[in-house]
Amino acid sequence: MGDPRVLWVTGAGSGMGRAAAVTAAAGRRVVVSGRRREQLDGTARAVEAAGGEALVLPLDVTDTAAIADAHRELASRWGAVSDLVLSAGSNSPHRRWGDQTMEGFERIVATNLMAVAAVIEATLPDLRAARGTAVVISSYSGWSFSPGAGVAYSASKTALGSVCRNLNAQEWESGVRATHLCPGDVNTGFLELRPEVPADEVRRGMLQPEDVGRAVAFVLDSPPHVRIDELVLSPTQQH
Ligand SMILES: NC(=O)c1ccc[n+]([C@@H]2O[C@H](COP(=O)([O-])OP(=O)(O)OC[C@H]3O[C@@H](n4cnc5c(N)ncnc54)[C@H](OP(=O)(O)O)[C@@H]3O)[C@@H](O)[C@H]2O)c1
Repeated sequence: MGDPRVLWVTGAGSGMGRAAAVTAAAGRRVVVSGRRREQLDGTARAVEAAGGEALVLPLDVTDTAAIADAHRELASRWGAVSDLVLSAGSNSPHRRWGDQTMEGFERIVATNLMAVAAVIEATLPDLRAARGTAVVISSYSGWSFSPGAGVAYSASKTALGSVCRNLNAQEWESGVRATHLCPGDVNTGFLELRPEVPADEVRRGMLQPEDVGRAVAFVLDSPPHVRIDELVLSPTQQH
C-alpha cells in the first residue's frame, strides 16, 4: 500500500465543503482551506474523527500567492495533491442589473471562477502524477438558467461547466478527471446571502450538506476508467 491520497478541499470550513471533507475522510489525508481558521479547525477535528488525517491551511482563494504558499506548505508535509474539491464560493443579495455593483460582480467572479481556475492551474502537475479528480462545486444555475441566482453568480457558475469540459478534453490522457457538480438549494449558511432568507421549514425540505458530501465521495471513489462529467442534484421540492 502506498501513501494515502491527499485531498485538498476549499470552502472546507462549512456547508458542502465541510461535508465533503468529512464524508471522504476515511483513509485520506485532507487539506482544509478557507478564510476562517476556527471553522477549519472544527472540520479538521471531524475529519480525524471520521478516520482521516487533517491539515488546516487557511487562505483567501482570490489570492493567487496564498494558493501557491499553501500548495508549497502541503507539499512539504504530504508531497503532492491527489484530488480536489473546490467548494469556496460567494454571492450577494444584490443580484440584478439595477442593484448589483461591478465591485460585487468582480468579487463573485474572482471567488467562483478565477479561484477555481487558479487552484487547478497550481496543482495540475500533481493531479497528472496522481491521476487525480477535481470535483468542482458549481450550482444548478450553472446547469440550467435560474433567474433568482444573480447575474454574476449565474455567469460564474455557468463558466465552470466549460472549465471542467476543457480539463476533461485536454487532460484525459494524463488521467485527470473533472466533475461539474451542480446542486440545487442546499441548507447551508449560503442562504443568508439571498435577498429573502428562507424560513427553517423551507430549509428542511432542501438538500442537506451531507447529501452533497455523499455525492462528492461517490465521484472521488469511482474507479479511474469512470468519468462523471456532470452531476445535478436537486431537492424534490425544487421545480
Ligand atoms: N447553498 C446552496 O443553496 C448552494 C446551491 C448550489 C451551489 N452552491 C455552491 O456551493 C458552494 C459551497 O457553498 P455552501 O452552500 O456550502 O455555503 P457555505 O457554507 O457558505 O460555504 C462557502 C464556503 O466558501 C468559503 N469561502 C468563501 N469565500 C472564500 C474565499 N475568498 N476564500 C476562501 N474561502 C472562501 C467560506 O469560508 P470562509 O468564509 O471562512 O472563507 C465557506 O466555507 C459554493 O460554491 C456555492 O456557490 C450553494
